[in-house]
Amino acid sequence: MTSLAEKLTEITGAAFAALDLPVELGQVRVSDRPDLAQFQCNGAMSAAKLASKNPREIAGEIQTKLLGFGHDRDTYVNSEYVSVHYQGHEVFKNIEIAGPGFINLNITDEYLAAHLADSAVDERLGVEKITKQETIVLDYGGPNIAKPMHVGHLRSSVIGDSLRRICGFAGFKTIGDVHFGDWGLHMGQVITELEERGILGQNVTLEQLEEIYPAASKACKEDEARLKKAQQATRKFQDGDPAYRKAAQQFAEVSIEGIKQNFGALGVHFDLWKGEADVHEMIAPMVNRLKTKGFAEESEGALVISVEQEGDKKEMPPLILLKSDGGVMYGTTDLATIVERMEEYKPARIIYVVDQRQSLHFEQVFRAAYKGGIVPDSTELTHAGFGTMNGPDGKPFKTRAGGVMRLEELISMGIEKATARLDEAELARDIEASERADIAQKVAIAAIKFADLQNNRIADYVFDIDRMTSFEGKTGPYLLYQAVRIKSLLRKAQAQGFEPGKEFTIQDSDRSLALLLTELPDVFEGALKNYTPHLLCEYAYRLAQEFSSFYAACHILSEEDEALRSSRLALCELTHRQIALVLGLLGIEIPERM
Ligand code: ARG
Repeated sequence: MTSLAEKLTEITGAAFAALDLPVELGQVRVSDRPDLAQFQCNGAMSAAKLASKNPREIAGEIQTKLLGFGHDRDTYVNSEYVSVHYQGHEVFKNIEIAGPGFINLNITDEYLAAHLADSAVDERLGVEKITKQETIVLDYGGPNIAKPMHVGHLRSSVIGDSLRRICGFAGFKTIGDVHFGDWGLHMGQVITELEERGILGQNVTLEQLEEIYPAASKACKEDEARLKKAQQATRKFQDGDPAYRKAAQQFAEVSIEGIKQNFGALGVHFDLWKGEADVHEMIAPMVNRLKTKGFAEESEGALVISVEQEGDKKEMPPLILLKSDGGVMYGTTDLATIVERMEEYKPARIIYVVDQRQSLHFEQVFRAAYKGGIVPDSTELTHAGFGTMNGPDGKPFKTRAGGVMRLEELISMGIEKATARLDEAELARDIEASERADIAQKVAIAAIKFADLQNNRIADYVFDIDRMTSFEGKTGPYLLYQAVRIKSLLRKAQAQGFEPGKEFTIQDSDRSLALLLTELPDVFEGALKNYTPHLLCEYAYRLAQEFSSFYAACHILSEEDEALRSSRLALCELTHRQIALVLGLLGIEIPERM
């Protein structure tokens, strides 16, 4: 169904068109001055330029047209949709012209109520579904085999999983791929380390790996010869040396098991558990094709694709396909992975949720993919980059010991803190231990995810465990608490035999919440368009706050007037459904009680 702002835009656009002005000027949006009006249209100013007239005069003409206009809308009445005709004054309570020619619009409570009733019967809460089913591959997570997962992988997986849910709800077929780093130098480093210790070929455990990789990496940093060895081992491994492959397979299995546990605890889902290694076989044919077609060329012994374009403002180095020793690079496997994804899934889009610092890499890969005919122009390749998670000192987040924070440490730290917060707020007190532990886990995950997702993803943010686990303020736990509270109110109502109504009665104390509830479809669309879950976080928070004010100002269960009570319960129910939907899109689970 059409959102309220869209509906008003249609009506206002028609008024502009009736005056022979461009219909687009009728764009209506939620007012940025809610103290003055509910909605606004700024089109009269541009119209004035076109028509060489005074903008206030044009605004006046639009006002007259709008009030004189009628319009039909399909409305849900007695379990079916019927077309209802609204006179202008039945849509608009008043229309005012402000300043140089702003058109300030307020709608009638009846029109608002009718719109809400329509979205309440819609199982999608008014959010439209895309009409053409297309596939989106999302590449997120990206942990590296045998290396500890760090907070960068946390950001990638939390944001990526949310984008997968958002795209899925919009109606796309989504495929989330973890895209392991299992082909790079770190593989050779670990293999060399195992060799040096004389344990290559023996099974290693996760605990051993946790010590082996850092040791290997340190040795390579300190010793040039050791680095050379690791590079050679990497090459040998890539070329299929049986002993190296066998060893790598064993420690990869162990490592992946640990990674899966972490993602499980975090509630992050993947459809594919593929990695760089999976496209190895596709590299040679791809490179040959690129060579034959003349896209790849030799440069200083290496094979490269030049990706410079006219108008480039910054230096754009070529993408290296093969190093002079014939070894493959990060870009090579990424390009071959695109070949594979196009063949297998024919996606309309591929979205990479990867650290913003890799933006040059993706720019090169994307350009090479288009240039080499690996993807058609109609396929959209997007790098949805993200900023750094910093510590309180403004530098990339480290543990107290100064190392990178590992994902499992972070999660258990979150759970510990969440448990303390529950105690502090005297919540979930009489609930038995196992359910209480489950609640603490959900509160912790909500805290971690919401703290991450609420920031515009490109921005860096400061990780502050105290702030993000608080039950007050713009936090995940606050939203969970509100959702649980509304649910329990609805349960209480049901126990008293009160049901939410199908119709709404709007009074002064209900209006702000009612208006806000109409914004969801537009907020969702914004989040989908730019892959920005923070818009949904913002919305959920506003909703929870608006609900609190409504709750403080209104009688609900104690309301004597039946129509009003059932309308208010319907507002509660709609608020709950919206918060639950939005939190679901963020990958946040709500406990039954708290
Ligand atoms: N493994 C990489 C890293 O840790 C991230 C992989 C991202 N995905 C990709 N297709 N390049 O930085």
